[in-house]
Amino acid sequence: MNSSQPGSSKTCRLIYKSRTSWDLLSNEVLLELARTSADKNAERDITGLLILSGESFLQVLEGPPDEVNDLYLRIAHDERHGKLRLLRYESISRRSFKDWAMHVVDLDDLPMPQRQVLIRKYPVEEGSIVIPDDDHLALALLLDARRLTVSETERPSGSA
Ligand SMILES: Cc1cc2nc3c(=O)[nH]c(=O)nc-3n(C[C@H](O)[C@H](O)[C@H](O)COP(=O)(O)O)c2cc1C
Repeated sequence: MNSSQPGSSKTCRLIYKSRTSWDLLSNEVLLELARTSADKNAERDITGLLILSGESFLQVLEGPPDEVNDLYLRIAHDERHGKLRLLRYESISRRSFKDWAMHVVDLDDLPMPQRQVLIRKYPVEEGSIVIPDDDHLALALLLDARRLTVSETERPSGSA
């Protein structure tokens, strides 16, 4: 059963931000993290998006509350994070990130036209988009990043 449909069993959305405690987060490490996270999340019916900007992470997790809570606890114990901060936790009737078991977007690596869209809307410090502390802005940034990275060719059939 797909728990993301309205009226079915409970689904929650969790958004947190953190800073990487790594000196250098290579693209290879990030790709490997995305791959293993996507596999594990798919097994747990969790979907979401992970944004990297400068040395900060912003991640949204959507799925069954028990699974999302359990994953957040594991993430909180992961030494690769520093200054973890829970921004938002809510019940939802529809997922906003249902197409990705976990997708990683490095805002610093976005093509310039997409970056410009974000730069016009969000503050920039030392060349990187600042990950907001405000939960509404954080969700807006995640939704913008989702919209900007889903190109026509990647768009799954049937999605808007
Ligand atoms: C920025 C960041 C995001 C992560 N996101 C996920 C995730 O979405 N799913 C996941 O299973 N692990 C994720 N991890 C890894 C977890 O923190 C943890 O290492 C992993 O869940 C441990 O899995 P295990 O207990 O099965 O070994 C993430 C780690 C980092 C640093």
